[in-house]
Amino acid sequence: MARGAGLAVLRVRKATLRDVRLMAELERSCFDEGYPESLLAYFVMNDERFICLLAELGGIAVGMAIGELEEEGLKAVGHVWTIEVLAPYRRRGIGERLLRELEERLRARGAVEFHLEVKVGNEPAIRLYEKMGYIKVGILRDYYGPGQDGIFMVKHLGPGEGPSKWSCGAC
Ligand SMILES: CC(C)(COP(=O)(O)OP(=O)(O)OC[C@H]1O[C@@H](n2cnc3c(N)ncnc32)[C@H](O)[C@@H]1OP(=O)(O)O)[C@@H](O)C(=O)NCCC(=O)NCCS
Repeated sequence: MARGAGLAVLRVRKATLRDVRLMAELERSCFDEGYPESLLAYFVMNDERFICLLAELGGIAVGMAIGELEEEGLKAVGHVWTIEVLAPYRRRGIGERLLRELEERLRARGAVEFHLEVKVGNEPAIRLYEKMGYIKVGILRDYYGPGQDGIFMVKHLGPGEGPSKWSCGAC
């Protein structure tokens, strides 16, 4: 048998309205309080602002990422709303792949830096973000509720890493 034969292939694709129930299930599996279907549908429908990606392994949805293109003055900023991978599929590079693809698509729409918030103590996520070049720039008191602080992290694109030459409104 050829090397790699039979191994499921990871595919990352844009989510559609048909995926909203699945996305809500992913949210419930990965967080105590996940985004409701109504909000996820809003993200998917507003695809000029939001990018919703699903990761599928052998056709099974195992993770997702959501980001938004925001304007800060004259600057376009990519806001990472969530990255999540089902527990049995973690530590295989799927989270990193999702974040890379999300950043690439936000960059294609003009983002020159990325922002995100993460709960204090969420070490897997913080390690992932640090590996991907994000730095901690501040503490957000009670951001996730009383006594649950957040960390604000930022990634600046380096010289030559600015917005993609090809602007892609549809990706
Ligand atoms: C954070 C999360 C998305 C990471 O997904 P993942 O697919 O396991 O991550 P990857 O396998 O791509 O790991 C990439 C890097 O992240 C870091 N990392 C991920 N999980 C880690 C862990 N448990 N401990 C330490 N570092 C970890 C490592 O640097 C890793 O690189 P390495 O494998 O070369 O060491 C996943 O743990 C998750 O879904 N958590 C619950 C949801 C959540 O909290 N999301 C973040 C919201 S802000």
